[in-house]
Amino acid sequence: MRLLVGLCVVLSIFIVFAVYTIHEIRWLEDYQVNVVQKNRKASLELLRLQNDAYLLAISLRDMTAARARYPIHEWRPEFVRIRRDMDDAVRLEGDFAVSTPASSDKRSQLRRALQDFWRSADSVFTLAQRDNEAKARALIQTELEGKRAVISEIAARLLVLNDQAQAEATERISAVYGTVKRDVVVVIGVLFLLALGTGLYTLEANRKTFARLQHLTKQLQSQSEALQKLSWKLIDVQEETLRRVARDLHDEFGQILTAIGAMLGRAGKKALDEDSNRDGALVQELQAVQKIVQETLQTVRDQSQMFRPAILDDFGLEQALEWFVKQFSRQAGINVRFEAELRDGAFPPEDAIHLYRIVQEALANVARHAKAQDARVTLKEQDGELDLEIRDDGVGFAVGPESNRSSGDGLGLMGMRERAEHLNGSLAIESAPGKGTTISVRVPLRKKMGIANRE
Ligand SMILES: Nc1ncnc2c1ncn2[C@@H]1O[C@H](COP(=O)(O)OP(=O)(O)OP(=O)(O)O)[C@@H](O)[C@H]1O
Ligand SMILES: [Mg+2]
Repeated sequence: MRLLVGLCVVLSIFIVFAVYTIHEIRWLEDYQVNVVQKNRKASLELLRLQNDAYLLAISLRDMTAARARYPIHEWRPEFVRIRRDMDDAVRLEGDFAVSTPASSDKRSQLRRALQDFWRSADSVFTLAQRDNEAKARALIQTELEGKRAVISEIAARLLVLNDQAQAEATERISAVYGTVKRDVVVVIGVLFLLALGTGLYTLEANRKTFARLQHLTKQLQSQSEALQKLSWKLIDVQEETLRRVARDLHDEFGQILTAIGAMLGRAGKKALDEDSNRDGALVQELQAVQKIVQETLQTVRDQSQMFRPAILDDFGLEQALEWFVKQFSRQAGINVRFEAELRDGAFPPEDAIHLYRIVQEALANVARHAKAQDARVTLKEQDGELDLEIRDDGVGFAVGPESNRSSGDGLGLMGMRERAEHLNGSLAIESAPGKGTTISVRVPLRKKMGIANRE
């Protein structure tokens, strides 16, 4: 949120500054066009006026020369032409000039002086036309020349004023440039500080976030380690309980049932010897009960084997799996093949039970979920590792992107993985809808097994 506010502030400064700069530059452009250019044009008109005044001076001199070539009245057209030109120049100068109190005062003086001059000039020509050439000449010398000089001087003054205005405008323009330059530096400085502040703030915020993340990761790690320990403890307790139940079932119930069976056998024989029971009804009943006892004994033994196969402790993993697979195949009605290439006693029973349980759970899943016809369990020893694979040709299921994680890990798969990891090994699930399922377990042999020591 704060970063966003910072960004907004920086952006608004940019926008305000851009608007301000564009405004100032426009103003400068307008100012240059309106004031400086117009002023220059006005100056040109003033120069034109001065030039006309100079022409007038020459004409007046020629008109009053001792041996004038033309009579005075013949100068009239020339004066009319100059007058028109001067009027035009005055009008244009008035249009272009940027008026100030001083300059407009001078401008009206100029207009008055011009009117005055032309009025006198008209009287000179009137006198000349009435053949009063000498009087006219005297009027030129006493009045007209002086009035012309006044015009010339006022024009010169106006030019000076225009020059001053021009200089002021230039000064003002450079002042505006100076202000804009200073503002650019200030804004760049402010933006730099803001960017620096934002950057530092971001760095600090990121540092804090990462520190928190690290802390959380550590916490998570220790929690997951604790959970793993707990889950392993559960598996351990379960194994221990199953072992005890299996032993009790086999030893105690087994013995009791065996004893009952034997007693029933003896009772049957006795009954056969007795005359009163020659019809054999009692014998038959006793035999039936004995059969039930024997079947129960078999069930108890089977259950005991399921809980904790004694065969695993007595003959090792390969035999135990072979027995289990056969048993499973018969009960589940799925054709399961078992292949093993394992050296004798390769795995101590306390480790082998976990591989056994993995096969048990994997085949239970095949029976429950796979709808498979055939399955195969293979056990191989390779490069100091034990490879266990349970493969089926059933419906399969979607496995997550990482091949060793299924999308819907239930407790069964989780327990299998847990057991594999406890043996320092790994478990991979390869499956896709319609493609069957393969569970592969790899466990190092040397570390966990006693065979290396025994060899
Ligand atoms: N061989 C298989 N063929 C098809 N789907 C399977 C197979 N093995 C596992 N699955 C799928 O993976 C899911 C998870 O299996 P998992 O053994 O972890 O849990 P479960 O069998 O559903 O429950 P339980 O915790 O009792 O074992 C199953 O629900 C099933 O959809
Ligand atoms: Mg399962």
